[in-house]
Amino acid sequence: MVELQAIAVGVASRPRNAMTEKRNTGTVEIPSSSRDHWQRIYGAKDEDEMSWFQAHPRTSLKLVVATGLGTDARIVDIGAGASRLVDALLDAGFRNVTVLDVAEGARDKAKRRLGPRASAVTWVTADVASWEPGSPFDLWHDRAVFHFMTRPEDQESYRATMLRALRPGGQAIIATFSMAGPERCSGLPVRRYEPESLASELGTGFRLVGCVREQHLTPAGRVQDFQYSRFVRV
Ligand SMILES: C[S@@+](CC[C@H](N)C(=O)[O-])C[C@H]1O[C@@H](n2cnc3c(N)ncnc32)[C@H](O)[C@@H]1O
Repeated sequence: MVELQAIAVGVASRPRNAMTEKRNTGTVEIPSSSRDHWQRIYGAKDEDEMSWFQAHPRTSLKLVVATGLGTDARIVDIGAGASRLVDALLDAGFRNVTVLDVAEGARDKAKRRLGPRASAVTWVTADVASWEPGSPFDLWHDRAVFHFMTRPEDQESYRATMLRALRPGGQAIIATFSMAGPERCSGLPVRRYEPESLASELGTGFRLVGCVREQHLTPAGRVQDFQYSRFVRV
């Protein structure tokens, strides 16, 4: 537990011994402790053993459709892990999907699952806090990543990346544990939100335009209460 707490700080603080990696969108800085934590998790469990696993990411897909964006929209799934949202987006005809995660183990699981279809996706291994997106995106999707940012400076870095990544008028879907959800996940503390508190956290650069509640059933049979909020970048 002590070790996991220390890792949580590592995710947040981007320590000086951060490692640098070359990936297909350039050179990105990844805090070794953050990557190690998530790598260990993806190395130890199958995709469908993780508490956040969804066979069908229905709520995310419903909100993506609600954006009204066309299938040529540039979409990034932040901290996608091995999520099947990328499969669902490809199935729905979206052609410009980027999948970003700090753990390459997660990416490898998703790529293996997709097989030849993986080549239709842009894969980025990076820490969202320091990622430098290239051209702007139309849609930012994050399920269960921002809520791990428990320190103001990490929330600020995340917001700064989101502002850099999204074009004005672009949209963001952010899913976190709600105030009725768990206080920890994957051995790490989380910050819980309601749509209004998330909107206030993101600041005036983003306008809340919709929200959905989800009772997520984990593979172990526990119910976790999520809120999904949709924002427009003003
Ligand atoms: C709880 S999982 C959610 C995975 C996926 N979004 C889903 O709903 O199935 C959190 C994910 O965020 C990734 N992650 C954590 N901190 C990150 C960071 N600073 N930058 C990028 N990804 C991060 C982890 O590797 C992990 O895959």
